[in-house]
Amino acid sequence: MRFIQVESYEKLSRMAAGIIAAQVISKPDSVLGLATGSSPIGTYKELIKGFENGDLDFSEITSVNLDEYVGLTGENDQSYRYFMNNNLFYYININNENTFVPNGCADDLAAEGAAYDEKIKELGGIDLQLLGIGLDGHIGFNEPADFFTKETHVVDLHESTIEANSRFFASRDDVPTKAITMGMMSIMQAKKVLLIANGANKKDILQKAFFGPITPEVPASILQLHPDLTVIYSEN
Ligand code: GLP
Repeated sequence: MRFIQVESYEKLSRMAAGIIAAQVISKPDSVLGLATGSSPIGTYKELIKGFENGDLDFSEITSVNLDEYVGLTGENDQSYRYFMNNNLFYYININNENTFVPNGCADDLAAEGAAYDEKIKELGGIDLQLLGIGLDGHIGFNEPADFFTKETHVVDLHESTIEANSRFFASRDDVPTKAITMGMMSIMQAKKVLLIANGANKKDILQKAFFGPITPEVPASILQLHPDLTVIYSEN
């Protein structure tokens, strides 16, 4: 594991985008595992700059996102599909047909999860997985539990996650209580993992996740077992 602490969110974003850019340049048909939340926004802005100035070409890239709220369509501005379209996909030359986000409105969510894992397998797995981390240690929406779940699955969001994510919604009651998330198998099988976190409020959970015991109570701690993990943290 490489744990890199930097002095600003801007620097974190430039470094993270640099790692993703290197992946895109060295393997133009990479499968990128992408994340939502506030942390990756700066990284995506840097990637857009790279596209605009002609350094990066996403035409052969495929993306698979980690998760989606159950019950929100892609047109809902709180959905993760909407987030990805509006923070990245619309501004680069990725082929929309090669961007995958779990469908939180599928009639059969268990079948949707199985199909999502099958899709990732068919694509040959993820080359580089970008992650954020929740205050309770969740990655994607893999919440603290008694065991790690391997497959893409539906989760009940924990109170603290609903609370933390309510800042993006008009009211707390609008936050969905369930989500569909990639499980640990696709994340751990990614060839490289890049986790970004910023803010003093993430300090304690990073300490637990990367310097404490490996336990499903701190889902991100499983990443300590990943052979190619980079964590970039900025307290400011
Ligand atoms: C959400 C997402 C996670 C993300 C987390 C942290 O719950 N499902 O993938 O890592 O938020 O978000 P932020 O980066 O805003 O702290």
